Amino acid sequence: LIIEPDYQLASSWTASYIAQKINKHKGDKPFILGLPTGSSPLGTYKELIRLNKEGKVSFKNVVTFNMDEYREIPREHPQSYYTFMWDNFFNHIDIKPENTNLLNGQAEDAEAECQRYEDKIKELGGIDLFLGGIGPDGHLAFNEPASSLSSRTRVKTLTYDTIIANSRFFDNDPNRVPKTALTVGVGTVLDSKEVLIIVNGHNKARALQHAVEEGVNHMWTISALQMHPKGVIVCDEAATYEL
Ligand code: GLP
Repeated sequence: LIIEPDYQLASSWTASYIAQKINKHKGDKPFILGLPTGSSPLGTYKELIRLNKEGKVSFKNVVTFNMDEYREIPREHPQSYYTFMWDNFFNHIDIKPENTNLLNGQAEDAEAECQRYEDKIKELGGIDLFLGGIGPDGHLAFNEPASSLSSRTRVKTLTYDTIIANSRFFDNDPNRVPKTALTVGVGTVLDSKEVLIIVNGHNKARALQHAVEEGVNHMWTISALQMHPKGVIVCDEAATYEL
């Protein structure tokens, strides 16, 4: 658990860590990076964009896989995770568009789409580093409370709490928030060589407490990180108030 005084410093720490991993990566295979959406990674993305522009890290040999995508909205929707990733990150770095992977929330056969995603990750040799955030209820990607801790990529129904929390991106109207999403499973994330989770703000304090001080519990899916040999949480001080 890395505790930084504030969000900006936590974001700089996270971005430098990722840049260092990419720079140290050797071999013919690209570096495989798992990525989240949400407000938590925004500071890290800004910092990575800066490092990229300054020539301190390149994404030319990086392949990305996003954690999740809403189901009931097209990818052109302003709140789709596809739009989020291009607006906040991919458009500003030197990544090759064909190296960015996102689940297709509009796929008619959702099960086949999820299997395709799992297969592609496997084909590329697995994820080197999965960056993530968590919801106030401790959910990882869209692995809501009570998700199996060995789950794989699949369709999940959002809990009412998550719909309320995410309604801030949908004109504060819970009715506009999609009710289902495609998401990598807890097992998919745990299979990564390394997992790095950003937790910030006092509204995540309970989730952080469950993540690091309580036992592994499928009601707080982030707690599964305790079983990972290389699981790191980076947080600001506000998130530590319940520790
Ligand atoms: C959504 C995403 C999660 C994310 C969470 C927290 O539910 N599916 O991956 O971690 O929001 O978002 P924020 O970082 O905005 O608090």
